[in-house]
Amino acid sequence: MNIFIAGGTTGIGYSLAKHYLSKGYWVGICGRNPAKVSENNFEKLQIFQTDVCDLSSISLALQQFLADKNSLNIFINCAGSYAEDVAGNISYEEAEEMLQTNILGTVNCFEAARKIMKNQKNGRIAVIASVSGILEYENSSLYTKTKRSVIQIADAYHRALQPFGISVTTIAPGYIDTQKLRALNQNDLSKKPFLINEETATIVISEAIENKRKLVIFPTKMKWMMKSLSLLPSSLLNIIMFRKAKWMKND
Ligand SMILES: NC(=O)c1ccc[n+]([C@@H]2O[C@H](COP(=O)([O-])OP(=O)(O)OC[C@H]3O[C@@H](n4cnc5c(N)ncnc54)[C@H](OP(=O)(O)O)[C@@H]3O)[C@@H](O)[C@H]2O)c1
Repeated sequence: MNIFIAGGTTGIGYSLAKHYLSKGYWVGICGRNPAKVSENNFEKLQIFQTDVCDLSSISLALQQFLADKNSLNIFINCAGSYAEDVAGNISYEEAEEMLQTNILGTVNCFEAARKIMKNQKNGRIAVIASVSGILEYENSSLYTKTKRSVIQIADAYHRALQPFGISVTTIAPGYIDTQKLRALNQNDLSKKPFLINEETATIVISEAIENKRKLVIFPTKMKWMMKSLSLLPSSLLNIIMFRKAKWMKND
């Protein structure tokens, strides 16, 4: 099996890479800064310097990865940019990076992978959205809006690629204890409900891809909380989510 993971140099992507390497598969990973890879002495790991915001860059990395292989079995897009505040409270640069990486990057990854998989007439594509993109409420952050868009984009590709034997799996995780999440929260994850570790997330994500699930929301408690919240009238939901955001920011 040949697996390519965009945004695979750290965090969830790298954990998935190690999972597939442990099965003996060939794994290609990419990021803007390959030096971030903590351990790269795996025989079947190939690392590429790539920006998902540039379609030709991601296509070239895939081409190089597949040069001596005959198929691309799984493509996972873990690349993401995160600044947790409402639009207006974040810089233009942060907003631009989030929109480029999370939205354009998602489309670029689908395009690069589908071109190869369409000729094969099979393959699996997965993208990491976020549980925060499941709900529609006032005052949600720009990050949340971009992840909501990721879910919509993946839905469009799911329908478009089904006739070609290509499955699309959207992953909507709750909080996963990655270095990035810690860095964004000054190493304090005490206000992150239902936090899970990278290994648990990796098992859930890899099983979802294997079973060709369309949308997976996890952990289970977070999923049911989101489902319950989605049943509330929007005015009440808005108040709850506003208070939650204030509590998380210690306002
Ligand atoms: N951790 C959580 O609690 C959580 C919850 C829900 C959803 N998610 C989503 O899960 C994904 C992974 O999160 P994580 O916590 O594992 O974060 P992470 O460790 O920062 O991983 C992000 C990866 O994407 C790469 N990347 C970022 N921008 C890129 C670009 N423009 N082109 C190519 N690669 C790029 C990063 O490398 P470079 O910076 O070197 O490019 C890195 O390899 C993200 O999409 C995030 O939004 C995370």
